[in-house]
Amino acid sequence: MGDLRVVGHGLVPPPRERKHLLSIADLDRDDVERLLATARSFALSQARETKKLPTLRGRLVLNLFYESSTRTSSSFEVAAKRLSADTLTVKAAGSSVDKGESLRDTAQTLAAYEPDVIVVRHPEVGAARFVADATSARVVNAGDGKHQHPTQALLDLYTMREALGHLDGVQVAIVGDALHSRVARSLVQALRLVGAEATLVGPPSLLVPELAPSTHDIAAISDADVVYVLRMQRERMLEGANFVPSLREYAARWGVTPERLRPGQLVMHPGPMNRGVEIDARVADSDTSLVVDQVQSGLVMRMAVLYDLLTAGPVPVEAAVEVA
Ligand code: CP
Repeated sequence: MGDLRVVGHGLVPPPRERKHLLSIADLDRDDVERLLATARSFALSQARETKKLPTLRGRLVLNLFYESSTRTSSSFEVAAKRLSADTLTVKAAGSSVDKGESLRDTAQTLAAYEPDVIVVRHPEVGAARFVADATSARVVNAGDGKHQHPTQALLDLYTMREALGHLDGVQVAIVGDALHSRVARSLVQALRLVGAEATLVGPPSLLVPELAPSTHDIAAISDADVVYVLRMQRERMLEGANFVPSLREYAARWGVTPERLRPGQLVMHPGPMNRGVEIDARVADSDTSLVVDQVQSGLVMRMAVLYDLLTAGPVPVEAAVEVA
């Protein structure tokens, strides 16, 4: 096991070099399996009455969000707190970004507090890489434009495995606006890593055939084990560009409705949902909807990601409690 340090009641390997989670491409299958196992351990810890673990006491996790977020920002904050880290959340709106401060200056200003991790969301592709290069913190990409959202893909794998018991060979139909979707890009890569398969389904104008096999035939979703519905990203569609004739027509042709699903077919959506557009409310609220499970997975997977970046290896959670 190499050099070991005695910390508290346990032995831990020495710290690893600084690393980031900017893209699913940063991970191999072993990394994904380790994160899934760590998230599961944390899920067990979260079933206890006392949910807080001392594992990251004294660490600082900085959330830097240039785009709106409910799930990702809240789950990183709760994840860091459940691990006893200090947290600082800065939203661009209301900060000195409004006065024209650049991403570099903002990141370097906040880096003066010596955060251990910066979680960054930004509308520009490559922003998380930029922050990683501009500071000495570990950086987690919480979404950069339409490029990557790796922790979303990891929490989705976790949710699927909890629901199905395995990932190898699982068929996932990803329905909707793949063109503007960092979730789709991350998820397709992550599914491949674990031996699962993705098919994109939607209007030809919103498909990305170089990403995964694609079809405009909504009937194809009935073959899938999981139907993964994407949000129509109206904010990323250029003014005046007509990707679909209208949202009403989109809903009629590609909306996921009970009639288009097999009985018992699992449905996921990263949120926020446009009910009545890409997903029928009866589907969103059905027994086979995993939408709430995804939010719960988001907490334990983000605990796992923070833990993995800041500690020195796959120490089981019980041991993590001991060594802190
Ligand atoms: N899925 C997702 O990233 O949601 P938020 O935009 O609410 O963080």
